[in-house]
Amino acid sequence: MKVIAGNWKMNGTRTGLTDMVAALQNVETENKIILCVPYTMLGVESNRIYMGAQDVSTHDHGAYTGEVSAQMVAATGAKYVIVGHSERRQYHNETNDIVRQKVTAALSAGLTPIVCVGETMDEKQAGKTMEIIESGVKESIPNDTNKNIIVAYEPRWAIGAGLTPTKEEIAEAHKLIADTLMSMGLSGTPILYGASVKGSNAAEIMSIPNVDGVLVGGASLKPDDFIPIITSVK
Ligand code: 13P
Repeated sequence: MKVIAGNWKMNGTRTGLTDMVAALQNVETENKIILCVPYTMLGVESNRIYMGAQDVSTHDHGAYTGEVSAQMVAATGAKYVIVGHSERRQYHNETNDIVRQKVTAALSAGLTPIVCVGETMDEKQAGKTMEIIESGVKESIPNDTNKNIIVAYEPRWAIGAGLTPTKEEIAEAHKLIADTLMSMGLSGTPILYGASVKGSNAAEIMSIPNVDGVLVGGASLKPDDFIPIITSVK
């Protein structure tokens, strides 16, 4: 069983989500399917797909115009939330410290956070990939976390660029994440790979050790692109 998560980013419509839910209804798979959609689309019912948000406030409630709390997300029936996605880190200056507060907020509302870590092209070229990944995991996940968490490795230079790391690079990154999680008492935490996943590379990526699933951006928007990823592995 793999975890196949879609991240719609700021795309799609409620009708499009309803269509996606209908299209996935009869897909034969034992994999867990999660769709992380814009807040305004949460609440669309599905007995097949788990819904998730893409961000959450560090605060529970109060005078924080424009923010949405973890409790509010949970009240829609959503079970997951992406936290610390590279686009939040890049465009909203989210640091590991902020991400950790969001993880805490998500967990206390009963949501499973999908915590993203990964290196930029500059960091990769400076030979800092492993350092960024390890500190990302250690600093973005609170010490007292229970096991209700997912980690996603998203090499930031590869996202939306049609680029993918080599199998060896993915294997090395996921092994480091698995070892780091083990040192934190979180062994068994699912580790997803995300960046330019598509039907043609999904099975190979998910055959790499310590890759427990994928977090898919662009190719999760249309059933014709998403279904082949879901059915590429048992
Ligand atoms: P793409 O699959 O479009 O590269 O996006 C990956 C991503 O950011 C998923 O969170």
